[in-house]
Amino acid sequence: MEERLQKILSNLGVAARRKAEQLIAHGKVTVNGKVAVLGQKADPDKDFILVENRRIKVPRKIYIMFNKPRDYVCSLSDEGSKRSMMRLIKVKERIYPVGRLDFDTEGLILLTNDGEFANRIMHPRYEVEKTYVARLDRGFKRDDIRKLKNGVLIEDYQATARAQYLFEKDPRVLELTIHEGKKHIIKNMMRALGYKVIYLARIKIGPLYLGDLRKGKYRDLSKAEMEKIMRAIGLGK
Ligand code: URA
Repeated sequence: MEERLQKILSNLGVAARRKAEQLIAHGKVTVNGKVAVLGQKADPDKDFILVENRRIKVPRKIYIMFNKPRDYVCSLSDEGSKRSMMRLIKVKERIYPVGRLDFDTEGLILLTNDGEFANRIMHPRYEVEKTYVARLDRGFKRDDIRKLKNGVLIEDYQATARAQYLFEKDPRVLELTIHEGKKHIIKNMMRALGYKVIYLARIKIGPLYLGDLRKGKYRDLSKAEMEKIMRAIGLGK
């Protein structure tokens, strides 16, 4: 995709925006062998860009699924902490989690260095469903399934979820599907109905299943999975 050169250089961490503009203005940047001018656009995937004679390359795009164990934090700002899930992921490239799971939530989380991909998975407009398994402090009433479907008021917004019992004999365990990404949404919905979440795990994002990936382990998305998820977020061919 074509973008202004200074944006490309800052996105790739070559230089901050102002510094990138100066480099361009001082004739230190070339695109396909020609000195670039301020405001010029380029496509970092196709064009040959040099900054002070060094080739600027777009890092390989990475799409990983990870099974976050309970009691690990997702956020990059805690990366130094012993309980950071990023410590369990040994990838050279700089990647970041797509959305968050709470410290005490486990399960499927995607990691990438593709900003557009991450935005679309999180943005409610693309309606990428997320499915969770929750165990509650007591049996969930059948009537509350209907309430979740119609919407539960949390602070200033209505949250909806599709819910079903996972086991016939244990009404405390539910499978819940939402397409909102708001913080603590499941716990807040359950609290609004008078329940406490004892255990929470995400098992599915859009067409992607956690499957038998072990806790603390990760893997690249397969070609088939990539095709499915890209299609689901409108980036597919
Ligand atoms: N909803 C929650 O309450 N917590 C999570 O981690 C994810 C969804």
